Amino acid sequence: MRRPLLVLLLAIAAIAVFAGGLAWLLDTPRPAPGASRAEHLYLGFCASCHGDDGRGSWRAALFLVRAGDLTDGSLVGQTDQYLFDLIKHGGAPIGRPGMPGFEATLSDADIRALIAYLRALPGARRLTPPARS
Ligand code: HEC
Repeated sequence: MRRPLLVLLLAIAAIAVFAGGLAWLLDTPRPAPGASRAEHLYLGFCASCHGDDGRGSWRAALFLVRAGDLTDGSLVGQTDQYLFDLIKHGGAPIGRPGMPGFEATLSDADIRALIAYLRALPGARRLTPPARS
């Protein structure tokens, strides 16, 4: 009888399917060739929670992370300084701890590039900074 071998092979196959599914679930899209640095940064650091289009990732939602929609116009009234502080220090100082801080990972220039990227996301083109008075 070869049954133990069969059971072993089936177990290995089941583990492979599980691991592959998990990798697929947690993967984020790769930037297209020639993509800007900001796009690389966004897809690398932000898309896992915010989704590749800024509308929020359903994969993150599975882990109960609700990052909201960055393209719904809610950022219209926010200044660049607000967004800068939020991305650098995270949401905790303003009572929104879901958003992590990136002070240790991103330079100030990178954060500024990301803010420009967010404001230019499709559907978010009206998100121009408020006029200075
Ligand atoms: C671990 C998940 C996670 C990652 C990674 C993440 N965010 Fe967030 N972000 C959140 C959550 C959750 C919120 C909503 C917080 C709240 O409203 O309580 C949020 C909110 C925001 C907001 C909205 C603030 C507002 O006032 O509406 C911006 C802008 C933002 N994130 C930008 C970024 C950028 C840029 C990156 C990458 C550098 C990033 N986030 C990475 C989870 C994440």
